[in-house]
Amino acid sequence: MAQNTLRLESMTHKREQHAQRLTFDLKKALAKNRLVGIWRMMAGYRLLYLGALVSITIGALARTATYMLIRYIVDEVFTTGLQLGRLPLFAAAFVGMAAVEGLFAYLRGDWAARTAEGITLRLRNYLYDHIQRLSFNYHDHVKTGELIQRATSDVDALRRFYADQALGIGRIVALFSVNFITLLNMNARLGWLAIVVMPIVIVMSYFFFGRVSKAYEAYQEQEATLSTTLQENLSGVRVVKAFARQQYEMDKFERENWEKYRRGKKLLIMHSLYWPISDILCSAQTLIVLVTGGLMAIRGEITVGTYLAVSGMIVWIVWPLRNLGRLIVDVSTGLVSYRRVADVITQDREDITSGTAVLDQPLRGEVSFQNVDFAYEPAPLWDSEEIKKLKEKKEPLPESKPQAVLHNITFRAEPGQIVALLGSTGSGKTSIINLLCRFYDYSGGNIKLDGLELREYARGPLRQQIGIVEQEPFLFSRTIRENIAYGAGRPVTQDEIEAAAQAAQAHDFILTFPEGYDTLVGEKGVTLSGGQRQRIAVARTLLRDPRILILDDATSSVDTETEMLIQAALDNLMLGRTTFIIAHRIQSVMRANVILVLDKGRIIQQGTHAELVEQDGLYREIYDLQARVEEDVAQEVAGAA
Ligand SMILES: Nc1ncnc2c1ncn2[C@@H]1O[C@H](COP(=O)(O)OP(=O)(O)OP(=O)(O)O)[C@@H](O)[C@H]1O
Ligand SMILES: [Mg+2]
Repeated sequence: MAQNTLRLESMTHKREQHAQRLTFDLKKALAKNRLVGIWRMMAGYRLLYLGALVSITIGALARTATYMLIRYIVDEVFTTGLQLGRLPLFAAAFVGMAAVEGLFAYLRGDWAARTAEGITLRLRNYLYDHIQRLSFNYHDHVKTGELIQRATSDVDALRRFYADQALGIGRIVALFSVNFITLLNMNARLGWLAIVVMPIVIVMSYFFFGRVSKAYEAYQEQEATLSTTLQENLSGVRVVKAFARQQYEMDKFERENWEKYRRGKKLLIMHSLYWPISDILCSAQTLIVLVTGGLMAIRGEITVGTYLAVSGMIVWIVWPLRNLGRLIVDVSTGLVSYRRVADVITQDREDITSGTAVLDQPLRGEVSFQNVDFAYEPAPLWDSEEIKKLKEKKEPLPESKPQAVLHNITFRAEPGQIVALLGSTGSGKTSIINLLCRFYDYSGGNIKLDGLELREYARGPLRQQIGIVEQEPFLFSRTIRENIAYGAGRPVTQDEIEAAAQAAQAHDFILTFPEGYDTLVGEKGVTLSGGQRQRIAVARTLLRDPRILILDDATSSVDTETEMLIQAALDNLMLGRTTFIIAHRIQSVMRANVILVLDKGRIIQQGTHAELVEQDGLYREIYDLQARVEEDVAQEVAGAA
């Protein structure tokens, strides 16, 4: 037990050590040149890496020394026969050198693993953190599957790069130079003969390098497409089933999967083309040296011992040569993955901390919009495949213009007031809210909060004072309690959670579950109805105790009676705080101090309910329509009774 605690403690300690490394700014470490970037990413691990390289060299030296010993024994000991008594000593030397080789092989493996795993641990943490801090704009345009692919498969390719290829280079250089130099010293002619095919191998590898890079990139892209397809399909499984489109989806998946197969095959074929050719070249190389060396030994130009040593060492000259090619080809995949990961890392983060406005006390909640214009940014050009193709062909890129969604929005909300936004779908209601939370930046006009320009507030502290119930609230696959507590961002008591749930009219239905607040939400737990989810989301936001509350269609899936109860609870909770309500039912917006009627991104009417029903216009049309429906229903009910 005590041991367990100890182990846990030491694990936590280690994790903290690693977490500190997150302060390392990868973005700054990236460089245009991919190799430089990869080198910089190794910061903090270079010593380990160097240790691994030194181990490799020592191992290589030990092996070459073994061959030299064989040579010495054959040439000097066996032929003279004088020192036979020292044979046990030679035997001990063999064993010793094997032990050195083994030990350093182990060290190399250990250090290499730590380097590779350490670098990727840091990289994954960094990416996860980074992806969460990217702007809404970025997430709007990048597919989730694509990001998942880059944070997993590409990071893994980089791990392999550090574990195998980065050290492989060192191994090749060490083995080759140690053996080559020794051989050259023993017999220059044989030495030079041992590398005659090298230029051919290098040229060939370079040729393959370019092709494999391209093929691998295409393969990774396709894999990303496939994971996006799969991810969308799983998220949308209800839609697929409801529309009975399984066959269509299957065909689509099959098409993408087939394409992946095709690209994967192409990649493999390249590899399998490369290997036989390089094998033939390397065998020829070995043969040349062995035959020439044999002839020289027969002619007495070299000793038998030298011949034996050469025949051992040639293996360790040809091996690096053969692997150099593979390495060059493999490095290409590492570089492609590096670029794909770097693409994400170089994206600008949303700045959530800088702002001149001081927010050391709660906001009053006075909001004013003055002639605000806004357009969502179009999809960036770097994302799509078509754009890449156009760029390759050097054709002009299509122009993408931002789509203006808000025009000349002007209104005021005093602290504590309720502002209601009403309008057809797509009229810009959510967009106004998005601006207020600084999810996006407005392009024209002014938004003032407590008299200060909104841009002057740092995003993080600002959002802490705003509570928003989104149009499609997302609940995590955790317990109901955790989901509600999520909003507070601090430890909260059960009483607080229950109070929030009660205000949101969620308490009663939560208690109908056998496990109450400990009920799991989502895949492994209960599936909540739309209205239940909304009420949990409302409770989550209320627990936050925001100065400005935004309910974006938060009660659309809730029956009118429950909505009235929620609103009554809000009246108490939101006393002295500003509330924004987006709704489609006149009943939900009637009590508001200001009602904004939106159409196609413009405010077409504005005022209180009493003022607006007096005017001709959209508001009265909606009012009449909804009132008439209610009357009809009332009559039907009366008639049926
Ligand atoms: N992230 C986005 N990127 C680009 N365009 C967007 C984005 N979100 C919304 N739009 C566009 O902006 C316009 C206004 O959308 P908005 O979501 O503000 O409407 P809304 O009034 O909230 O509608 P609803 O009642 O359906 O929620 C729409 O034409 C929509 O296509
Ligand atoms: Mg909306």
